[in-house]
Amino acid sequence: MQARLLTTAPEKAEADALILPIFEGQSTVPPEAAALDRKLKGALAQLLTDREFRGKFMELVPVHNLGNAPSKWTVLIGLGKAEELDLVRLRNALQAAGRVLRKRGHRRVALILPKAVAAHAGTADLARAATEGIGLSNFDTGSLKTRHEHAVTQIDALTIIGLDGEKSAAAAVKDGLILAEATNRIRGWVNAPANAFTPTVFVEKVKEAVKGTGLDLKVLEVDDMRRLKMGALLAVARGSDEPAKMIVIRYNASSAPIALKRGSRGPAGPTLALVGKGITFDSGGISIKPAQNMEMMKSDMGGGAAVVGAMLAIAELKPKIDVIGIVPTTENMPSGKAIKPGDVVTGSGGKTIEIINTDAEGRLILSDGITYAVNQGATHIVDIATLTGSIARTLGPLAIGAFGNNRELMDLVRRAGDLAGERLWELPTWADYDGLIDSEIADIKNSTVPWAGATTAALFLREFVDGRPWVHLDIAGSAWQAASELKTVPKGPTGSGVRVMAHLAQLLADR
Ligand code: BES
Ligand code: MN
Ligand code: ZN
Repeated sequence: MQARLLTTAPEKAEADALILPIFEGQSTVPPEAAALDRKLKGALAQLLTDREFRGKFMELVPVHNLGNAPSKWTVLIGLGKAEELDLVRLRNALQAAGRVLRKRGHRRVALILPKAVAAHAGTADLARAATEGIGLSNFDTGSLKTRHEHAVTQIDALTIIGLDGEKSAAAAVKDGLILAEATNRIRGWVNAPANAFTPTVFVEKVKEAVKGTGLDLKVLEVDDMRRLKMGALLAVARGSDEPAKMIVIRYNASSAPIALKRGSRGPAGPTLALVGKGITFDSGGISIKPAQNMEMMKSDMGGGAAVVGAMLAIAELKPKIDVIGIVPTTENMPSGKAIKPGDVVTGSGGKTIEIINTDAEGRLILSDGITYAVNQGATHIVDIATLTGSIARTLGPLAIGAFGNNRELMDLVRRAGDLAGERLWELPTWADYDGLIDSEIADIKNSTVPWAGATTAALFLREFVDGRPWVHLDIAGSAWQAASELKTVPKGPTGSGVRVMAHLAQLLADR
C-alpha cells in the first residue's frame, strides 16, 4: 500500500471511495465535506437528517457519487459517540471499514479527517493511527480451501485529506505504513496451522523476511543449545520430533561491527532485548490440555512472531539504539521422551527448576531466552508471550497484561502502548507473592496455586533478568480475538505487541 497526505479538497479528490467519518448524533455534514455534498445535491445531509445514517460505531453506508465528483463513492462510516473515541477505536473502525471496501473492490481510498475528528489527538498520532487502521485492513488469513473465492482486492493507495501540510504528520504516515505492514506479515504466521509452521519453517520465514533489511540473523541449533546448557528450552523440546531453534536477530544503531562478546556493548548506549515465546504448538505435553479449543494453540508463537515483526519495523524506523530479538521456538508435545511433572531441569543460567506442570512451558523456554539476552549484554529486557490463560480470563482479548521490575521502563512501555494504539494494563508483582514459585526440591518451580497465574509466571521470569530493567508482556488474550460478543474489534490474529515494541525502541533511544 502507498499512503500520503493531500491538501486536495474532497470534492476534487480522485479515488474509488472517499471515506467520511461521522460521529453518533452528528446531524450535519462536517464543513470539510460541505462542497462535496453540494455536488452530490445534498445526499449526505439528507441521510443524516433522515437518520438513515446515525454514526453508530462501525456503521457503514456507501453513497454513489453518480459522476458528480471525481471519486466514485462516498462512504459514510460511524465513529460512535465522540466522547468514547480514542485512537484504538479509530484504528478498529478504519480497519473494519477497509475490509468492507476491499470486498467491494475498492483499491484507491481517500480518507477525510474533519476537524471534529482531528480534535481527538495530535496530528502526527492521528495520521499514524489512520494509516495503520487502513493498512491493517489489508490483512488476509489466507485460505487453504481448495475451492476458495478469488483473492480479495487489496487497498493499494490511501490518501488522507484534512491534515494538510504538517511535516510531522507526513512522517507519521510513513511510520504507520511500516508498522501496519510489519504487523500484517506476522499475523499470517500466527494464523498458520502448526503442521505448516514448525520451528524449522519459522526460521525459513524469518530468513526470507530479513533479506535486504540490514538485520543480522543467527539461528541456534539443538547442538548450540546443548553447548550453552539451555536445559529448560531443551526440556520442553524433548517431547517433539521437530528440532528446536533459537532465532537471534540483531539491529545495530550504527553500522559499526557487532559487539558479540559477553558484556561488551560497543560505544555506550543501551541494548534493548526483545524475547518472544515461539511455541509453534502447545498440546500441554504430559500435562495435556483438554481437546476443546486446543486447535488455538497453533498461535502460541504469537510473542515470538511479534518480536520478529517489531525487528522488521525497527530496521525501517531506524531508532538510535541497539536491539536484539530472541525467539526460542519449539513444539510442546507429549511422548515417551517428554518431560514429566516432578522432573527437575537446569537452565542456562544455572538455576534448577522443578517442573510441576509441563503445560507451563512458555516460561521455561523464555527463561533460556532471557538468560541469553543477559549474556549478550542487554541493558533492558522486554519479553512477550501468550503465556497464561489467567491473563486471558482477566483482560479478555482487549489488552496486553504488563509486569515489570522498573518504574522508568514500565512507564516507557506504557507510553509505547499509547503511541501504538495497543491497550496495555499493568498488573502487580508485589514481594508478598514471592513464595509462589518456591520449590521443595529445586531453586524454583514452574507452576503453583490456581490463582494469580499471570503474576506467578511473571515472578518466574523475573528470576532470570539479573536485576536489569525488565517488562513482561502477556498477550495470551490479546494475540487472538475470537469473541463474537465483541463486535467493535477485528477478529483473528491481531499482531499484538509488534507496534508497542517498535515504539519502545524509539522511546528508549530518544530518552
Ligand atoms: N499457551 C498457554 C497459555 C494460553 C492459554 C495462551 C489460552 C492462549 C490462550 C500456556 O502455555 C499455558 O498452558 N499456560 C497454563 C499455565 C499453567 C499450567 C500454570 C495456563 O495458563 O493454564
Ligand atoms: Mn502451555
Ligand atoms: Zn503455551
